[in-house]
Amino acid sequence: MDAREFGGALAWKDRAREALGTSRRRLLELLRPVPPEALSAQHSRLMSPPVWDLAHVANYEEQWLLRALGQPGIRGPETDRIYDAFRNPRPTRGELPLLSVSEALAYAEQVRTRSLRHLDALDVEAAVRGGRLLDRGFVYGMVARHEQQHIETLIAALQLVTTPPIEPLPSRIPAPRPRVARPREVLVPGGPFEMGSDAAWAYDNERPRHVVEVPAFVLDRFPVTNREYLAFMEDGGYRREELWEPAGWEFCRSERLEHPLFWRRKRGEWERRRFAHWERLPPDEPVCHVCWYEADAYARWAGRRLPTEAEWEKAAAWGPNRRARVHPWGDSRPDSRRANLWPIGGHPAPVGTFPEGASAWGIEQLLGDVWEWTSSDFQPYPGFRAFPYPEYSAVFFGTEYKVLRGGSWAVAPDTISNTFRNWDYPIRRQIFAGFRCARTPERA
Ligand SMILES: [Fe+2]
Repeated sequence: MDAREFGGALAWKDRAREALGTSRRRLLELLRPVPPEALSAQHSRLMSPPVWDLAHVANYEEQWLLRALGQPGIRGPETDRIYDAFRNPRPTRGELPLLSVSEALAYAEQVRTRSLRHLDALDVEAAVRGGRLLDRGFVYGMVARHEQQHIETLIAALQLVTTPPIEPLPSRIPAPRPRVARPREVLVPGGPFEMGSDAAWAYDNERPRHVVEVPAFVLDRFPVTNREYLAFMEDGGYRREELWEPAGWEFCRSERLEHPLFWRRKRGEWERRRFAHWERLPPDEPVCHVCWYEADAYARWAGRRLPTEAEWEKAAAWGPNRRARVHPWGDSRPDSRRANLWPIGGHPAPVGTFPEGASAWGIEQLLGDVWEWTSSDFQPYPGFRAFPYPEYSAVFFGTEYKVLRGGSWAVAPDTISNTFRNWDYPIRRQIFAGFRCARTPERA
C-alpha cells in the first residue's frame, strides 16, 4: 500500500466524511451572502442559474451515494432529467422548472443526511468486496470533489453578475516574500517520467500511470503576469494576424477582442472587474480570463510556446530523485504558505508569493492562482478505461478541447493535484485561466 494513500477502510471512511463535510461547508459559505434573486437568475448563456448547480450537486449525490449503492432514492426521474448536465446544455437551464433556492437547499440536506447515515452503517468487509465504486472510497471522493468543482463553477457564474452587486470574496493572500533574484526560466532536463496517477480517488482520465519520455525543455518560473501581457497588447498583439492560429484570429476578429475579459481602460489606467467592483489592474498577478487562442498568440509574440501537458506535469511532479510528488512541493496537503486555493485568495496572488510551494526544479505557483492552458488536446492515456461512466471523460476526448492544469484560486485544495486534468474549448474566457510559456532549449 502506498503510504500516501489512505490505507484501511476505516481511514477512507474518515477521509470521505471529511471531504463531504468540507465541500458542503464551503458551498454554503459561498452562497450565504448572495441574494436569492442572484441565485435564481441565469446571468449568461455560458453559465447555469446558480440554483441549477445547487440542486444538480444534490441530485448527483442522490444518484451515486444512494441509488448506485443500493439505497432508495428521494426524488423521481423527472428531477434526474432536469439536473442532467448532458441533456440540458447551459443556455437552456434557465427555462427548466427548477427547484427554488430553499427547496434546493432542503433537497441537498436531505440527500446528505441519508448518504452519511449509509456511510456510517457501511459494512467495512462488504465495502471491500463492493467493487471499484467503493474501492478505498472512490465514489465518495468523486461526489465530494464534484461538489467542490461546482463551487468553482458557481464562483465563475457570480463573477458575471453585476446586479445585484456581489461583494468580492475576502482575500487572505500572504504578503509576497522578499524576492531573491531568481532566473525567470528553468531548464527541466530530458528523460522519462511517470505521468498520471493510480491513487484511490484519481479520475479515469488520470489513469493509468505510465512512463513518458520528455525531451529537455525550458519553462517559465511563474505564470505570465498582467504587466507582461500588457506589453503584448501595447505591441499590437490583438491586431497582428501573424501571431494567431487561423481559428483564433477569426475568433479575435469576430469577438473584437482587445484585452482579457473583465478589463477596461479608464482615464488612461487599466482596471479589472472582480465581481461587481472595478479596481486598478494589479501588475504582478498572473493574467486571468484569457482564452487558449490569446495564450497561444502571446507565446508566439514572446518567441516561445505553450508547454505540453506532459511537460507541465513533469515540471510539477517529477524531480531529480525520480519519484512523482502529489503536489509540486511534495505529498503534504496544500496550505496557505504554498498555494492560493479556495478559499484563500479571492483573486490570483502576485508572482513570488509562494516560494515554499515550488516544485523540485524551483518552478512556482503551479497549483492555484490560475488554471494554465497547455498546448495539448484532451486525449486518453494509453490503457485508458472509462470509469464509472463514459460522460465523465471519454465523450470529451478528441481535438475540440485543450487541457488546463494546476487549478485556480477558486479550486478547493482537495480537488487539485499534479495529475488533475481539466479541459475546455479554446475560446473560453470566463474560466479562471491564464498560462505560462515554455521553449525548447537550443541544444537539448
Ligand atoms: Fe456536475
